[in-house]
Amino acid sequence: MAEFVANYDEDKVPDYTLPDPLVFEDGTAVQNAARWHKRRAEILSLFETHMYGKMPAATAGMHFETRYVNDRALEGTAVRREVRVHFAAGAEAPWMDILIHLPKDADGPAPLFVGLNFNGNHTTHPDPEITLNDRAANAARGQAASRWPVTRVLARGYGLGTIYCGDLDPDCDDGFQNGVHALFERQNAGDAWGTIGAWAWGLIRAMDYFVADEAIDHTRVAAMGHSRLGKTALWAGARDERFALVISNNSGCGGAALSRRRYGETVGRINTRFPHWFCDHFKQYNEREDALPIDQHQLIALMAPRPVYVASAERDRWADPKGEFLGAKHADPVYRLLGTDGLNAENMPPVHEPVTSRIGYHIRAGGHDVTDYDWDRYMDFADEHGHKRA
Ligand code: GCU
Repeated sequence: MAEFVANYDEDKVPDYTLPDPLVFEDGTAVQNAARWHKRRAEILSLFETHMYGKMPAATAGMHFETRYVNDRALEGTAVRREVRVHFAAGAEAPWMDILIHLPKDADGPAPLFVGLNFNGNHTTHPDPEITLNDRAANAARGQAASRWPVTRVLARGYGLGTIYCGDLDPDCDDGFQNGVHALFERQNAGDAWGTIGAWAWGLIRAMDYFVADEAIDHTRVAAMGHSRLGKTALWAGARDERFALVISNNSGCGGAALSRRRYGETVGRINTRFPHWFCDHFKQYNEREDALPIDQHQLIALMAPRPVYVASAERDRWADPKGEFLGAKHADPVYRLLGTDGLNAENMPPVHEPVTSRIGYHIRAGGHDVTDYDWDRYMDFADEHGHKRA
């Protein structure tokens, strides 16, 4: 196979026509807000069939076990809990652990950000009391702490929840024999779920838990994710409208970036390098992006009218910052139809000039990462869109 060479030349971005989120597949227009739910269902089903695969409902035996509570964590500023979500009856069943920090002085249920992490909950903060996940025992405590500024988040009145993505499915092409896929009989079909589907399913199961926890304001839970886990946050937010806010950090191809631009990572490249992420049908669109019945602006439109935030980084060209902006921008008509503003920017804003309309967007200096700058903007955005505790 020829070596993949990414295009970073705006002049070589092909001409393309995006599928219209406000036109049904039969060609009729979505005339008013009342009809959106029908078109929404249609778009959702297209994403299932052609891209992320079908996702099962919660398992019958699912139950929650609080395994650790510390009311005086982080020098007395936080309540920390570790909750194990068992996906079936019995101790051998697959499980995921949610690490939760809530502000100590909360006098009511706390609004919360939740996101999957790459290498284990113990990598998100160096505190040795956090359980070390045996599945990721080689990853050092606190190695990802800069991406999870828990003290900063708590100081603004928000809680923070995180889950190791490998609890749901290891990130490798291993035939879906393990992780939560193993809980279900696998349909040998082109729309069977892949790893991103399984990760998103886990975020949704975390939401099931938040609904049951009185210390958490489950009407103000924001799903957040970086990169492959940003693609995941978007898919979870599309699938589950209980997420009141959704944040994509540098999610790129298969996330917020328009596939048809073929800038940086492409559909063909992502399916070759990560054949387990999407459903098999998606591979039909390798080098055939124009044949896709959907593009990523429609994924963002599935959040409407909920606030959604897309963030890029200047040097993260692989993720196509402009394509991420345009993904957000072209979701705008759906928001307007539903009576809110959309993305209040005609063109891509300069670095460090966030747009905080109902669809939010920023591009910051630097590379592919999650930084304090990003988190501060997410919290500003959440404050502005009613997530701050009254
Ligand atoms: C790779 C991949 C991207 C992904 C990124 C990440 O670069 O090609 O699609 O977003 O990894 O998850 O960090």
